[in-house]
Amino acid sequence: MCGIVGYIGKRNSQEILLEGLKKLEYRGYDSAGVAVYTASGLQIQKAKGRIANLESKLEEAPLNGSVGIGHTRWATHGKPSDVNSHPHTDNSMKFSVVHNGIIENYITLKEELIEKGHVFVSETDTEVISHLIADLYEGDILKAVQKAVKRMTGAFALGVLTEFEPDRLVAVRQASPLIIGIGEGENFIGSDIPAILEYTRNVFILNDGEMALLTREGVELMTLEGNFISREMFRVDWDIVTAEKAGFDHFMLKEIHEQPRAYRDTMGSRISADGTQVTLNELTTLTPEAIREINRVHIVACGTAYHAGMVGKYIIEKMARIPVEIDVASEYRYRSPIITKDTLVIVVSQSGETADTLAALREAKRCGAHVLAITNVVGSSVAREADDMIVTLAGPEIAVASTKAYTSQLVAFYLFGLHLAQTLGTQTAAEIAETLAALKALPEQVEAILEQAEAIKGVAEEMAKHDNLFFIGRGLDYAVALEGSLKLKEISYIHSEAYAAGELKHGTLALIEEGVPVIALATQHELLEKTVSNIKEVKARGANVLGIAVEGELELQKSVDSTFVIPKTLDVLAPALSVVPLQLLSYYASLARGNDVDKPRNLAKSVTVE
Ligand code: F6R
Repeated sequence: MCGIVGYIGKRNSQEILLEGLKKLEYRGYDSAGVAVYTASGLQIQKAKGRIANLESKLEEAPLNGSVGIGHTRWATHGKPSDVNSHPHTDNSMKFSVVHNGIIENYITLKEELIEKGHVFVSETDTEVISHLIADLYEGDILKAVQKAVKRMTGAFALGVLTEFEPDRLVAVRQASPLIIGIGEGENFIGSDIPAILEYTRNVFILNDGEMALLTREGVELMTLEGNFISREMFRVDWDIVTAEKAGFDHFMLKEIHEQPRAYRDTMGSRISADGTQVTLNELTTLTPEAIREINRVHIVACGTAYHAGMVGKYIIEKMARIPVEIDVASEYRYRSPIITKDTLVIVVSQSGETADTLAALREAKRCGAHVLAITNVVGSSVAREADDMIVTLAGPEIAVASTKAYTSQLVAFYLFGLHLAQTLGTQTAAEIAETLAALKALPEQVEAILEQAEAIKGVAEEMAKHDNLFFIGRGLDYAVALEGSLKLKEISYIHSEAYAAGELKHGTLALIEEGVPVIALATQHELLEKTVSNIKEVKARGANVLGIAVEGELELQKSVDSTFVIPKTLDVLAPALSVVPLQLLSYYASLARGNDVDKPRNLAKSVTVE
C-alpha cells in the first residue's frame, strides 16, 4: 500500500515526482504529497484526495528544485487528510520522510520522543520516523537512518531527505517493496518500476534489510548495518506503453481486452510445436524426481488470486490426482497447517508483494516445503523467495480490479496441471493433447466473447439499478461465481454474494424475492441438470436469472430469463471463458453507477500490509 517515488538529478523534480506518483496511484489514492529541496530549503506540499489535487496546488505554488521525494497514500494509521499525508517532517522541518508500510512499535517510539520534547501533529505512524531520524542525526543522514531503522519494527520502505545534506537521498527497504532507477547524472527511487520507467530501464531491486544512498553521480547499495553490497542491474524489457491506456477509457477495459494476448504469451513456447507436450523449463528445483515425492499441495493466495487458486485445486486434483488444500493467505499460517518436505506450496500473486501471501510463503519455507510461485512480476519478493516460479505474461496490470492477471493465472495452473500429469502419468497422451488443443483455442474464443461486449453492457445497466444480487454455480462454476461477485462488489459497490448453487436452499434462498437478479453459471456438463434445478428454485421465488451457458445448451436457456453464451470448450477450461462476461458486467455496472472504475473506493492494487 502507498506509493513512494524519489528523484535526485539536474531536472525539475516536481514534474518527475508527479508523473511517478500518477503511475503509482494504483497503490493508494487517499492523499498525496511531495517534499522538494528548493532555494529556500526543504519545502513540502500535500493534498487530500487524488494526485490531481496536489497537482493543482503545485501549479499555483511550484516547488523548484532537483531533489525530491513524493508519496501517494492508502490510509492505515489516521484518516485521509492533509496533515496525515506524507511526506512527514520533524519539528525543525529539516528532515522529510515518505513511508510505505506500518511501524508496529510507533507508540513506544512516539512516547519516548514526546518525553524528549518532540511535538507531533499527525495521527500517523510515519511521523515518528522523521522525528526519530532528526533526534539521532549527528551530521550524517545515512548513519542517522541506520540508527533509526534499528529502533523500528514492522514493514517499511522509506525515502529520506534532509536539508543539511541536499545532495543525498536515502532509501530503505524492509518488508515493503522498493526499487532504485539508475540514470545518467540522475537517480530515482520507486515502489514499483512504472514510476520511473519513463526515465530509465536500468534498476536495482532492493531486498529486505537493504538500503541505498543516492547522489546525482551514483548509487551505493548496502545492508541496514552499512555493509556494501554489489548487485547486478536489472534491465526492464517491457515498455511504458504497455502501462498506458492505449485508447481505452479505462485500464480495466484495456486489460480485459488484452486477455487473448496474455493467454497466447503465457502459453507461448511452453506448449510444444506439435501440441502434445508442456515444457516448463523454468522449473529448476521441481524436477521430475521432486514432483514424484509430492504427497500434498497447498495453494495460498488472496482475493482474486485465491479464486484462481480454487480453479487450480480442481485442475491439480483432476489431472494429477494429488490432494490439494487451499487457504486465503491471511488465515494460512494461523491455523498450524501440516506442512512437510513433501508438501508443495503454491503461492499465487499478481504483484508478488502481497504481505499475507509473502508471510505464508515464508512460513511454508520455514517448515521445509517446496514453494512454487505463480506471479506476474519477475523481480517481486514472492518471485525471488520461492524455490520455483511460473511467470504469467499478462504484462503490467494497473486497474485495481484484476482481470488479465486472473485469467493468466488460470493458464499457469492448466499448464502446471498438465506438466504434473505428464510427469506422473496420471493422464494419457491423448487426454493431454486434447486439453492442449482446447487451451490453444482459448484466445480466439475470448476474442469472440469480447465482440459481444455491447450485449453485456445492456444487462449491466439494468443490474446497476439493483442493490443486491447473487451469483450461483456448482463445481468450477462456483469458483468463477466467487470471482464474478468480487469483481462486481469492488468496482460497482453493489452488494452481491456467490453461492454454491446447491447450498442456497440452506438459508440464503430467504433473500430471493421478486426481481432479484441472479447470475447462474452453468458451464459444467455433468452438473448441468442439478444447476437447472437450482435455477428453478430461485425462479420460483421471483428471481430474474441471467444464465452463463455453453453454446448449444438449449435446455438451460429455456430455464432462465436471459442467457450469455460462451463458445464450446472442455469443462475444465470453461472458467477461462465464463469469467470474461462477468468482468465486462462489473465494468459496465460500475460505469453505469458513475464510479471510478480503475480506482474503487477504499482499495489499492498492492496490499503490502497485513
Ligand atoms: C481484486 C484484486 C485483489 C487481489 C489481491 C491479491 O480484483 O485484485 O483481490 O487479487 O489483493 O493481490 P496479488 O495477486 O497481487 O497478491
